[in-house]
Amino acid sequence: MPEAKIAPSLLAGDFSQLGHECKRMIENGSDWLHVDIMDGHFVPNITIGPPVVTCMRKAVSKEIGFFDCHMMVANPEQWVQPFADAGGSLYCFHYEATKDPEALIEQVRKAGMKVGCAIKPKTPASVLFPFAEKLDMILVMTVEPGAGGQSFMPDMMPKVKELRERYPDMDIEVDGGLGPKTIGQAADAGANVIVAGTSVFGATDPAEVIKLLRDTVNK
Ligand code: DX5
Ligand code: ZN
Repeated sequence: MPEAKIAPSLLAGDFSQLGHECKRMIENGSDWLHVDIMDGHFVPNITIGPPVVTCMRKAVSKEIGFFDCHMMVANPEQWVQPFADAGGSLYCFHYEATKDPEALIEQVRKAGMKVGCAIKPKTPASVLFPFAEKLDMILVMTVEPGAGGQSFMPDMMPKVKELRERYPDMDIEVDGGLGPKTIGQAADAGANVIVAGTSVFGATDPAEVIKLLRDTVNK
């Protein structure tokens, strides 16, 4: 299994100072920075768009800040170039939002970003089998996308296991409700990229939580 990557979700950070929040998480030992993009269509909420990511990128260079862009948007094809231009590192679209995942994967690669595909809780892992080898990352949602601070869904772990058995070298990310209490189940199932919003940003010592998450995955 690939090494752990811990990706604090900036959705739980202070939106009035996102550049500072990015730097703070890097100083606390994060590997990636998880950026939740919501458009008010694919999910009811609206968060941030390309101009904000452009500003975050000015605060942290590509060398130190890996922006894992979780695209909770309808028509993900529309946003590939704007997010590439803004400085996105990985473009993770939702399977449920596109008619042609393979064409979209191609489009993201041509734009110079890594590419991931996310599945919502009700979507089976098998939808990914036809094109998974072309991906850098699979995201198995462990809450319904749309908001931070929800409860982890342990019944998603069989999907993670199934995907880990099929794709031993793939980055497999879990997102939603991850923290010290739930990381054991996710790590046992084979997840190695861990998104954590509330548990990291709400901690008095974020570095300690990030380290615990990483150590649990790598053990
Ligand atoms: C939910 C988002 C998550 C969320 C995770 O739609 O995709 O990234 O911010 O937050 P926590 O860790 O608080 O569940
Ligand atoms: Zn997310």
